[in-house]
Amino acid sequence: MYHFIQKLHSGWAYLALLLLLIAVVNAILGFTSKKDFTAKDRKIALFALIGTHTQLLIGLILYFVSPLGLSVLGQMSNADYRLTSLEHPLINLIAIALITIGWSKHKKLINSEAKFKTFAIFYGLGLVLILSRIPWKLWF
Ligand code: HEM
Repeated sequence: MYHFIQKLHSGWAYLALLLLLIAVVNAILGFTSKKDFTAKDRKIALFALIGTHTQLLIGLILYFVSPLGLSVLGQMSNADYRLTSLEHPLINLIAIALITIGWSKHKKLINSEAKFKTFAIFYGLGLVLILSRIPWKLWF
């Protein structure tokens, strides 16, 4: 069970990060070129939302079955344990909350420029936060 979930979380991370990166670049390009926000742009943002939410669900399960999750939460003097049991989950929860807020906000906006700007800010912040707390040593 643990190995399957760990491999899934490790592999899905590529897809989630790629979809998020594409959505951020698309939002920045859309904003700077002042183009219309189309159904295609909405789909790009939606795929990034679904990709990161799926990773969140897999991460939540992993947290309870991994020897590097909840079980080592009490060992804060170890930087590797602190990263996987506290910093990585907490920062990612905040990042995905920001991405979700960005998605909800865009629905209330009418103006294309405002929609692209909202995605660029909220998805962009989410991406930076996620990248800041990836356990790179485990991943590569
Ligand atoms: C978009 C959000 C996330 C991304 C991109 C992400 C990515 C990653 C990556 C690349 C690793 C290293 C995997 C490896 O060992 O090969 C990892 C490990 C881990 N992640 Fe996440 N993660 C995310 C969210 C979460 C969340 C929300 C939780 C918990 C609530 C979580 C819990 C863990 C745990 C416990 C590990 C250590 C797993 C182990 O090796 O046993 N992750 N994550």
